[in-house]
Amino acid sequence: MPGRIPENILEEILNRLDIVEVISGYIPLKKAGRNFKANCPFHHEKTPSFMVSPDRQIYHCFGCGESGNAFKFLMRYERMEFVEAVEALARKTGVNLPEDEKRDHKAEGLVTQLYKANELAALFYEENLKGAAGVGARNYLLSRGIKEETIKLFKLGFAVDRWDGLITYMRQRDVPLSILEKAGLILAKDSGGYYDRFRSRIIFPVFDIKSRVIGFGARVMDETLPKYINSPETPIYIKGNNLYGMHLAKDAIRDTDCVAIVEGYLDFIIPYQEGQLNIVASLGTALTQPQARLIKRYTHNVVMLYDSDLAGQLATMRSLDIFIEEGMSVKVVCLPEGLDPDLFVRKNGFLGLKEKIDKAESLFEYKIGILRARYNAKEIEGKSKIAHEMLSSINKLSNAVLRSEYIKLLADELEIKEEALLEDLKDFKKEPHSALTEHPQAQRKLPAINPTEKLLLNLMLEENDLISQIKENLEPADFQDERIWRIASLIFDFVAQGKEVKTNNLLNYIDDEIASEVVCESALPNETNFEDKEKIVIDCVRRMKIHRLKNERQLLHDKISVAQKSGDEEKLQGLMLQFHELIKKR
Ligand code: UTP
Ligand code: MN
Repeated sequence: MPGRIPENILEEILNRLDIVEVISGYIPLKKAGRNFKANCPFHHEKTPSFMVSPDRQIYHCFGCGESGNAFKFLMRYERMEFVEAVEALARKTGVNLPEDEKRDHKAEGLVTQLYKANELAALFYEENLKGAAGVGARNYLLSRGIKEETIKLFKLGFAVDRWDGLITYMRQRDVPLSILEKAGLILAKDSGGYYDRFRSRIIFPVFDIKSRVIGFGARVMDETLPKYINSPETPIYIKGNNLYGMHLAKDAIRDTDCVAIVEGYLDFIIPYQEGQLNIVASLGTALTQPQARLIKRYTHNVVMLYDSDLAGQLATMRSLDIFIEEGMSVKVVCLPEGLDPDLFVRKNGFLGLKEKIDKAESLFEYKIGILRARYNAKEIEGKSKIAHEMLSSINKLSNAVLRSEYIKLLADELEIKEEALLEDLKDFKKEPHSALTEHPQAQRKLPAINPTEKLLLNLMLEENDLISQIKENLEPADFQDERIWRIASLIFDFVAQGKEVKTNNLLNYIDDEIASEVVCESALPNETNFEDKEKIVIDCVRRMKIHRLKNERQLLHDKISVAQKSGDEEKLQGLMLQFHELIKKR
């Protein structure tokens, strides 16, 4: 989770902290050998499998896999952003954080260049809107009820009616066209050269949660189709990971413990402008699990706002199951015919919308209403259709009590026996997908990690002196698991820079959830006291080499048998030669 705060500052904070003290401020910890244990605060359990290690300054749950250092604990437990967690612990330890501007002095990678290109493009479009060419666009926005200050807040802009407006602007500022292409801002012509993707349209920059511009939507000002042209996905714009407006709404979402979700830019902007501050927009695509999890960091309560066309569609309802799978509560508001959230607020004001949201129906009520309108609940066939559709949602509830309550409710609604529904529910259980949601922990099972590689990792974390010995004897291809290789190289880097390898500091450099879980799990069981660690290292290295040879031999073997079958003599000869070389190596 590398942020823009220099790692040495993060280390300084962690070095001054005791994670045991931090975590015991939230949950009671019990001493257990060298570690402390507790019932895991991140999943339900009766026997403690949540461990906190004072030696390693990390926590790890052997039940659900949740693990990390003190920053991560605050992020998860307090639902803080990374930077918020760092700031909180910096205050606690009296470490001064550098000013924002000073933080970023790493070499500019592609990602940084993409952010910069987008930032600059947003500025260009904003300037266009303010200039003479933007008069029509400004009038259009005003006619839609968007105020000046709102235009500013959302950095709305205008793309001029030229094929090279942005290209010219960027050329003057030495931004490489290849970066603009990767950012999705320009497109390559068949005849060579490039042209602007967005022309003669209103520009809506899309922000990530840290308020960085990651993409754009561009709307026509008349009835031309398509109504919107959007940035493609890029290394910094992964649509299913983001929600429009989250950067502005997150605090209000946390404070009100509720979020309203709408579809479109205008459906977000107008209600937000009028005071509906806990709102995000999905931008017209089906909601994804990462989006549900993003929301879950701030609230478990979701209200979907639909205009009446969408609301009636079963497919729309089904997409809401994603929240049920995450254990969240979903309610639905269906706005009157012909009114989307934008028009509804313009007609009925913020208070009108608030009333609708307060009276939202639960997904259960709502869905059954739609189904009743569609199928005849008096006939057997209708009942069966309704039951099936409802059960598929109910089945996704991970809470068994809730599930059985809903089944009772459904049985009442349809005037059928509970037993019959329970019988039907068994069919769903067979789906592999629902088996996973039955036991949320099962989803987090670590991929099987080669025990030799894990042991090696454990030794490196425990005994820094062994690292150079390991480094000299292994190369990337010796690792079966690419993740462990990446972790190992990170450790090698630490040593090369003359830094002590501490698990909690190491975690500051690891973005990948699974990799950090592997590190924590390898770091924890340090009760084992190996006699001769150097000999164990030699043994591990030898085993890994042998394993690699075996794999290479198998590969060659397979290639040879293919060559034999195809009768390619020349190729066969070459492969046989390689095979003998390999055997000699052993
Ligand atoms: P809407 O058609 O509801 O658009 O599509 P809107 O945002 O309310 O715009 P107005 O009110 O007509 O001006 C909802 C969302 O679906 C995506 C956009 O993100 C839009 O905000 N969409 C829609 C597209 O990406 N392309 C389209 O052609 C249409
Ligand atoms: Mn609209």
